[in-house]
Amino acid sequence: MPPDPTFASTQLAARAAYLLRGNDLGTMTTAAPLLYPHMWSWDAAFVSIGLAPLSVERAVVELDTLLSAQWRNGMIPHIVFANGVDGYFPGPARWACSALTPNAPAGRHTSGITQPPVHAIAVQRILDNARTRGRSTRAVAEAFLDRRWPDLVRWHRWLAEARDPHSRGRVTLYHGWESGMDNSPRWDGAYANVIPGEVPPYQREDNKINTDASQRPSDLEYDRYLWLVEEMKSARYDDELLQKVMSFAVEDVFVSAILSVACTVLAEIGEDYKRPLADVRDLYAWADRFRGGVVEAADERTGAARDYDTRTESWISTETVAQFAPLLCGGLPHERERAVLRLLEGPRFCGHPDLKYSVIPSTSPVSRDFRAREYWRGPVWPVMTWLFSWCFARRGWAERSAMLRREGLRQASDGTFAEYYEPFTGEPLGSMQQSWTAAAVLDWLG
Ligand code: SER
Repeated sequence: MPPDPTFASTQLAARAAYLLRGNDLGTMTTAAPLLYPHMWSWDAAFVSIGLAPLSVERAVVELDTLLSAQWRNGMIPHIVFANGVDGYFPGPARWACSALTPNAPAGRHTSGITQPPVHAIAVQRILDNARTRGRSTRAVAEAFLDRRWPDLVRWHRWLAEARDPHSRGRVTLYHGWESGMDNSPRWDGAYANVIPGEVPPYQREDNKINTDASQRPSDLEYDRYLWLVEEMKSARYDDELLQKVMSFAVEDVFVSAILSVACTVLAEIGEDYKRPLADVRDLYAWADRFRGGVVEAADERTGAARDYDTRTESWISTETVAQFAPLLCGGLPHERERAVLRLLEGPRFCGHPDLKYSVIPSTSPVSRDFRAREYWRGPVWPVMTWLFSWCFARRGWAERSAMLRREGLRQASDGTFAEYYEPFTGEPLGSMQQSWTAAAVLDWLG
């Protein structure tokens, strides 16, 4: 008898829920048990999307913890460190945020950089889930929105102002980690111009946990990552000084598209829940501005999006998942949008004949930058599959969205909840038991 698919999905969802429970430290969920033993900003947003169908109350706690570490200037830091937990480098001592800037929060150790702004999507999923529950759960979600609305607006305002000082409609990043796609080929050119000076001695922790060097960034890449942290510290993490001192400064088209979507989502929530009109107006204005910035970054003919290196003043074209940024936020003229969709679905990406599952590899298998096992240089990241699937549903592309969901679930049915997967063999790579992979599965099956 063939396996009962409903039973299999119920089992997979149960395992995903069990995983999140296992990674739960109480008021924060670690991104992964060993490799990432703290809270990461965009991981936390996805985690709360996965928690929402299980417990709206617990999902709210996750975002509350993250927002309690928000900086005074509005930045949500990319890591909130769990108290008393070692085993990750660079840790709080290396970032030294509270010693260097009054913007760092009191009572929480954080890193000094940021990450993609997907949080409004999490707030929407929490409110959606709450609407299907009883009155007391709805009240918890609404009280959260009351409490955190100003913080969420401040977060988007910081991105729109401090990180787009010339109103170009694209978010500037000063560290590849801020893109979330640390070692993507997108950043190779910009990193080539980062010449590490005196980097205080350090020991990587990540490669003690994942000992297969072919899955993680190289030592040379780490030297540059750590050098950029020193540059930031020399500027005391000051938003204006960073613009001048950082040797890495790129306009990230993918983060810009996410910001545009997030501003629209938050504005819609603001309208539904009667938040101040001035906030809603600002959010819609930022959504338009960043959509415009993404469209401007799209190739005239193919519509594929590019990043911009502000140090060399040049566009960065790479065959990576970031090319599809305009599909997230919309705005491309019809013909160019059709062309990007053809690129996505054709043999350079999801339609590549050797793929195990028809999902989007982080780098095109036909690109000379492609490496099948190496972090953001080729593997498939389930959380990206979720993000595109969610955005496509929002854009009215039900079939495309369902296809990604179906293929993403087929991939996840191996039960490892891997951080990323080898695209041809389906081998799970990176960390196993990655929280956001479980979260994606829970939302899909919810
Ligand atoms: N992704 C980074 C790491 O691998 C940090 O954000 O540690």
